[in-house]
Amino acid sequence: MEQINIYSADEVISRIYVEDDIEGLEDCLEEYRHVFAVMDQAVAMQCPAVTQIAEVFNRRGVPGKLIEASEERKNMETVMEICEWLLDNGADRDALVLAIGGGITTDMAGFAASVYKRGVRFAYVPTTLLSQVDAAIGGKTGVNFDNYKNMLGVIRQPEFTYICPQVLESLPHRDFCSGAAEMLKTFVIEDEGNYEEAVRVLFEMEKEYRIVPEEDAAEYWCDCVCAHAVELTPLIAAAARVKAGVVSRDQFERGERRKLNLGHTFAHAIETLARREAMTGDAEVGKTDITHGEAVAMGMVLAARLADRVFHGDMDTPTALEERISADLTDCGLTPQCPFEIEEMAQAMHKDKKAEGGKVHFVLPRAVGDVAVKDLSVEEVIMLLK
Ligand SMILES: NC(=O)c1ccc[n+]([C@@H]2O[C@H](COP(=O)([O-])OP(=O)(O)OC[C@H]3O[C@@H](n4cnc5c(N)ncnc54)[C@H](O)[C@@H]3O)[C@@H](O)[C@H]2O)c1
Repeated sequence: MEQINIYSADEVISRIYVEDDIEGLEDCLEEYRHVFAVMDQAVAMQCPAVTQIAEVFNRRGVPGKLIEASEERKNMETVMEICEWLLDNGADRDALVLAIGGGITTDMAGFAASVYKRGVRFAYVPTTLLSQVDAAIGGKTGVNFDNYKNMLGVIRQPEFTYICPQVLESLPHRDFCSGAAEMLKTFVIEDEGNYEEAVRVLFEMEKEYRIVPEEDAAEYWCDCVCAHAVELTPLIAAAARVKAGVVSRDQFERGERRKLNLGHTFAHAIETLARREAMTGDAEVGKTDITHGEAVAMGMVLAARLADRVFHGDMDTPTALEERISADLTDCGLTPQCPFEIEEMAQAMHKDKKAEGGKVHFVLPRAVGDVAVKDLSVEEVIMLLK
């Protein structure tokens, strides 16, 4: 089992385990007497490794709560339901809330654990690629509020995050690709070698997947993930190591951690517009139903374009970097072209929770593996990207 630590000064504040199979989770739970499992109901039903662990919990009398993991249900109401369930089941200050699911589940259960009885301990078993490389690491928890993403939340570290790529075998292709976007984002920030290796492996998987007839695609994808697990595991561990390192140096996002938001100001605006569009009833195809990872992919391409215009003043031709990132994301199964005009995104960007004094910290890639943070007003960005 590989262990990656997150530190505050010299103290380990959170542990990340990367393990080939799910069995090792039981050992990690040994020191916790009162475990309360919060699970994504879809994962509990579809993921064989999670079903296996749920059976162990049943035998051991670990209370379990199933939740619906959707952005619509990622709200205070669900957090309060989790708190109520903890209270009804006698969870005291000694409790460990174990969240099993993707980023929606870990964000909500982590937040519920952080406010229940002024904070009890929690741990994660991330079941999406996105949560294994990003959401379940670093302690950001929260829910959507007033149609804005993750507006309410706290930063508080899980006891541990148990990453087991085996659980990805049931993850649908689209959600896998979403996670691939966050993985590539991490490597664009600081690891060119693993960026290239990730693009190679993901492109290989995508090529194999594309030639399979549609009716066999879901089953084939499961086999494809299993077949490539040996190559995926070190990449997931490498991305986790990058994020753990950044968080150790800047837990509360006062400086370096901002880099992890590469593409995210654009992505959050895209997600907000997509949700609004979905509510209008006459929504255009491609403008609704955009996952977080898909929005991050679009955001990264916009960030590369913005970087070029900020650093080189080139207003017309896409740069080699923008083209490279865009082509790589496409090869990895994503559609990185943003369906909204930059002007439409302005209002949502103004509301970005990272905005300070009218400026937003934009993360600008200079090359793969090298990014800079620059404070720009939304107006400046619109002017540059129009
Ligand atoms: N806290 C952070 O630092 C952080 C970072 C990035 C993203 N996030 C948040 O994470 C969320 C997105 O997370 P996500 O992409 O992991 O999505 P998710 O939790 O919505 O899961 C995506 C879909 O996959 C299903 N699923 C999950 N695991 C599965 C499995 N193993 N088998 C079958 N189906 C499975 C879920 O039921 C859901 O339908 C967003 O709300 C985003 O804001 C948080």
